[in-house]
Amino acid sequence: MTTPEDRHIDGEISHELLKQLAYNEKMAELGRISAGVVHELNAPLSVIVSASQMIMREEGVPEFVREMIERINAEAQRLSQMTRGILNFSSHEETGGDADVNLTIDFVLDFLCYEASRRGVSLMRNLDHRLPVVPVDGNVLKQIVINITMNALQAMEHEGGRLLVETSSPNSSEVCIVIADTGPGIAAGSLSRIFEPYFTTKSPGEGTGLGLFVTRTLVENLGGRIEVRSAAGEGTSFTVVLPAGESD
Ligand SMILES: Nc1ncnc2c1ncn2[C@@H]1O[C@H](COP(=O)(O)OP(=O)(O)OP(=O)(O)O)[C@@H](O)[C@H]1O
Ligand SMILES: [Mg+2]
Repeated sequence: MTTPEDRHIDGEISHELLKQLAYNEKMAELGRISAGVVHELNAPLSVIVSASQMIMREEGVPEFVREMIERINAEAQRLSQMTRGILNFSSHEETGGDADVNLTIDFVLDFLCYEASRRGVSLMRNLDHRLPVVPVDGNVLKQIVINITMNALQAMEHEGGRLLVETSSPNSSEVCIVIADTGPGIAAGSLSRIFEPYFTTKSPGEGTGLGLFVTRTLVENLGGRIEVRSAAGEGTSFTVVLPAGESD
């Protein structure tokens, strides 16, 4: 039975979800624009990389010049690695068909490596390369992985730590993604509430409390399930289980 109060809550949720969807559209647009910008950046970057390599191969270059050129080369390579990551991440093709779970995780982690390093978090992955494909839009999978991973990085904001992403296929009909962090963990009182809409421990303006609610909705719409294990002081581990595609 739906009470007027429920309808009020439902109304609020759908309003927030609409806002979230409009935001996602804006992000997709931003993705398309940044893909263009990044593409334009690649040409001068590759000139810098190859020109600096040519100078380094020259004989008789003074030592201090060589050192500076090496730095220019290393920084340009770092930038072009980052731009490649942005390009991969922001590609918003409707994949529609099957998603390669490991590839999607690689895209998300490459994209978030700066966010991780500025918090002193080391990213580790242990991916099973014999996973079956999953009949999921790759963009939906990106959103699921990014929501859980960003929460973990935010939880390790001050102390740093480690984040491990593992994939496996416990049987041929399921794919399992585990995202585990060494952060502060979640107190028992909060643990039962984290999937509720608007539940957040972040300061106003820092979190809407919709991230895990949206994530669970997306996972369940795909016929999967999401579980969490955590205790205060012991880190947190999220497990997402998705049904695998038909193998033929
Ligand atoms: N890995 C984690 N470690 C510690 N706490 C976590 C972790 N993941 C989620 N939480 C807790 O769950 C709460 C709800 O998470 P959720 O993603 O739904 O919202 P949020 O991150 O607070 O806000 P938003 O996602 O909108 O930015 C968080 O505020 C935090 O207290
Ligand atoms: Mg969140």
